[in-house]
Formats: sequence, structure tokens, C-alpha cells
Amino acid sequence: MLNLGILISGRGSNMEAILKSIQKKKIPANPAIVISNRPDARGLDIAQRLGVKTEILESRNFDGNRKEYDEKIAKILVKNKVTQRNGLVCLAGFMRIIGPELVRKYKNRIINIHPSLLPSFPGLDAQRQALEYGARYTGCTIHFVDSGVDSGPIILQKTVEIKKTDTVEVLSRRILAKEHVAYPEAVRLFALKKIKVSGRRITIG
Ligand code: GAR
Repeated sequence: MLNLGILISGRGSNMEAILKSIQKKKIPANPAIVISNRPDARGLDIAQRLGVKTEILESRNFDGNRKEYDEKIAKILVKNKVTQRNGLVCLAGFMRIIGPELVRKYKNRIINIHPSLLPSFPGLDAQRQALEYGARYTGCTIHFVDSGVDSGPIILQKTVEIKKTDTVEVLSRRILAKEHVAYPEAVRLFALKKIKVSGRRITIG
């Protein structure tokens, strides 16, 4: 069975969507551990309520030392049986960049969700970027993590039309609703070994 490690920094609504899909038996995976880099992340309570083990590894103590932080993350993952062989690491609103060593260690086993149609609008405030650019469509992307920022091979995308009346908050809410469908879907495809990676290209099925 696939062992999942979910990394969060805040609200944890994507994590919740994944955990609930597992509980409903839509994803054949074991939610092994939720790790937060912030002690006040609201997602920690949600995970605990859903009966999933949590750990806090505060990142502010590691400012300027990503490698050491990532090594500690890897230790927690391995301790909870999320390994390079049978694990999947889901970044779910985890607001830290993963360093190249950890990316290499879990090659094609770390996935991320980003609230835009990548490669447009990577980085912070993706919803605001799309709105201010005047894009007509945006959405969300689930992708493998490589050593760049929001640049790894794309697994799934869902589109959202931008309306004239949209504010960042209203648009973000509509994107988030799609995220909650897309992320569990991507984890399910991974758990079923339906994702094939060939360079940047991904085939499903
Ligand atoms: C989500 O909108 C996610 O796409 C975004 O943070 C939010 C986390 O919400 N991630 C990024 O912007 C990463 N670059 P959540 O904690 O409720 O899942």
C-alpha cells in the first residue's frame, strides 16, 4: 500500500480533501503522517480529528539552512514508512521550497498543487497574478516537484474562467473548489500506478 506523507503550512483544506477521499476508500493509500512547518497551522487539528498522526518541524529555526531542514523532514518521513520505494509526499499549501537533495531522494515521488495553470503565474499570489495580468482563464495544477519553483512535470490541470467581477478572494475560492477535486484525483492515479513519466511528458492510464 502506498504510504502518504502530507506537508502543510496552514489551512490544510487540500490535505483534508485527500484524507477524506482515503477514508471514503476512493484512494488506496495509507495516510502515514502530516507534517507542518508551522505550529499554528489549522490543518494540524483537522488531521488529528481525522485520526492521522501529525508532527511539527518548525522551519523558522532553519532559516538559511534548507539542507538541514530537509534532512529532518526526510527522517520523519522514513520513520513513518514514507520511503523512496513505497511513499508519496504531497505538498499541500506547504510554503517552503524543497531543496535538490530531497527532490533527488524522492525522485518523482513528491507532488505539489499550485493555484494557476502552470507555467503561467508560478510563485506567490498566483491568483492575484492571473487577475492583474488580465488572463481570461486560470485554474490549478498538480505537478511533480523538481528543483525549480513550480516547474516540474504536469500531472493534472483544471481550468477556471476569470469573471469581470472577480476579486482575488472570489477567484481563489472558485480555484480552491477545483483543487479539492484535482488533488485527490492525482493521488489516486499515483496510488493506482497510472502515471508514467517520460522527461517532462506525463501519460495517464
Ligand atoms: C492552495 O490554494 C494551494 O494551491 C496554494 O496554497 C493554498 C493552500 O490551501 N499553494 C501554493 O500557492 C503553492 N505555491 P490549503 O492549506 O487550504 O490546502
